[in-house]
Amino acid sequence: MRKKKEEERKLPRHIAIIMDGNGRWAKKRALPRSAGHSAGSKNFKDIARYCNKIGIEYLTVYAFSTENWARPKDEVDNIMNILRDYLKDAKNFKEENIQVKFIGNIAALPVDIIALIDDAEKNSADATGLKLNIALNYGGRDEILHAARKLAADCKNGLIDAEAISEQDLEARLYTAGQPDPDIIIRPSGEYRLSNYLIWQSAYSEFWFSHILWPDFKPKYLEEALDEFSKRDRRFGGV
Ligand code: IPE
Ligand code: IPE
Ligand code: MG
Repeated sequence: MRKKKEEERKLPRHIAIIMDGNGRWAKKRALPRSAGHSAGSKNFKDIARYCNKIGIEYLTVYAFSTENWARPKDEVDNIMNILRDYLKDAKNFKEENIQVKFIGNIAALPVDIIALIDDAEKNSADATGLKLNIALNYGGRDEILHAARKLAADCKNGLIDAEAISEQDLEARLYTAGQPDPDIIIRPSGEYRLSNYLIWQSAYSEFWFSHILWPDFKPKYLEEALDEFSKRDRRFGGV
């Protein structure tokens, strides 16, 4: 039954998710925000595993934005500690055949986290299943600026002609270089905005919003989004 359904359904190659609503999930339960972030992190692992299981090629999740540094220091420290624990467990990626990559301004993170990220990326580089991008200290505008600086440097070095800069040239300097654009962007938690996520790459993405808070966003909700996606008519400007 399930098999038949999969054959009829057009799955996205690349899913992007804004993992939002951890704080409100905790508040509803009279728990500290940190409990929401822990629950959100656990749910992220479940969803990544599920995407791998159903054969999704790329999953990009928003874990921490360039704007999230504006939060109280306690909360930022707590999120970084959850990240450390997750990365120390990163041998699991390889066992699960998930290839992990971090996108964002990684160089500005604490040095121990940079080392753990390097390990996780190297250890999972040969995995042939899901390609998982974790957006960390990520901002879409920051990413485009970073690419623009690289382009300017390459012009200065004579590697590229300023008059001939193409979309492909800019794309090749984004953190997501070489990857397909997200086919669908999912935002739970009842907010209807991109919050500086994948602003170049989302030019033709489908959007799907839900009121479910991220820690409660079980695979059945992802399935709802996938069912809806398979019915969308993507025209890319054509007819
Ligand atoms: C998303 O949940 C996690 C991060 C931004 C790191 P929030 O912490 O934004 O949760 P809400 O939006 O306050 O509920
Ligand atoms: C977006 O959520 C960033 C992440 C989920 C990591 P925010 O909670 O930071 O977004 P805003 O502030 O509501 O736009
Ligand atoms: Mg939020």
